[in-house]
Amino acid sequence: MYTHLQLRDSARPPVTLSSLHKMREDGEPIACLTCYDASFATLVDEADADVVLVGDSLGMVIQGHDTTVPVTVDDMVYHCKAVSRGLRRPFLVADLPFMSYPSREQALTNSVRLMQEGGARMVKLESGAEQVRVVEFLASHDIAVCAHLGLRPQSVHKTGGFRVQGREQDAAARMLQDALDLQSAGADLVLLECIPAELGASITKALDVPVIGIGAGGNTDGQILVLYDILDITTGRKPRFVQDFMAGNGTPLAAIKAYVQAVKSRAYPAPEHCF
Ligand code: KIV
Repeated sequence: MYTHLQLRDSARPPVTLSSLHKMREDGEPIACLTCYDASFATLVDEADADVVLVGDSLGMVIQGHDTTVPVTVDDMVYHCKAVSRGLRRPFLVADLPFMSYPSREQALTNSVRLMQEGGARMVKLESGAEQVRVVEFLASHDIAVCAHLGLRPQSVHKTGGFRVQGREQDAAARMLQDALDLQSAGADLVLLECIPAELGASITKALDVPVIGIGAGGNTDGQILVLYDILDITTGRKPRFVQDFMAGNGTPLAAIKAYVQAVKSRAYPAPEHCF
């Protein structure tokens, strides 16, 4: 009956929230990647990534939009289903896309779809003070939640571009307070995107839950990158925090393994990837 218990003693037990907490306590970096289909999911699993995110970045890297705004819940469910078929060990997180959580009830309905239809174990939402009550509501229904702070791509038309966040002292203080409030509301994981390394370190230190960074410096509990960026599939100008892991690695599997190794050994991110 308790499949998780049976698998706990297997050679590759599935990653759970408890194992992510243990990794934080032990100081073992958490290696995360985005993924959008079953074939790549199989490779990411084989490379031993700990967390897989079906990110709404799929709107840009799969669908060809210039932002994540057009992505729908149906799109997310479709890709989540595909990814979950290819995964055995990693912890699967799915993004709640733009305007799928304007109210607590809509957030709940759409999270249930991502979990029941898509197979996600956790939902992620771009969050600030305005999302505290939504996170609290999801947590009160035993839904595991990741709060996403810093650069919030769903707000790009309002904030005016993809820019480093939290550079000014008051913005940094607000972000730290938001992270603490979201944790108190029940967030189980926090993702920080595109912020100064120093702020990434201080938010990680202040929280009790694992913190994953993308362009947030080397002192978070884990790192995440967009799969198509590390495989050098993405064209055009890349953000400073991106490293091309295809360079020197002959196959996508070797590149993904190199990324996981680099995160685990803290070789990635290097100073040139940080703000
Ligand atoms: O959608 C996504 O891929 C993300 C990453 C930037 C972490 O949220």
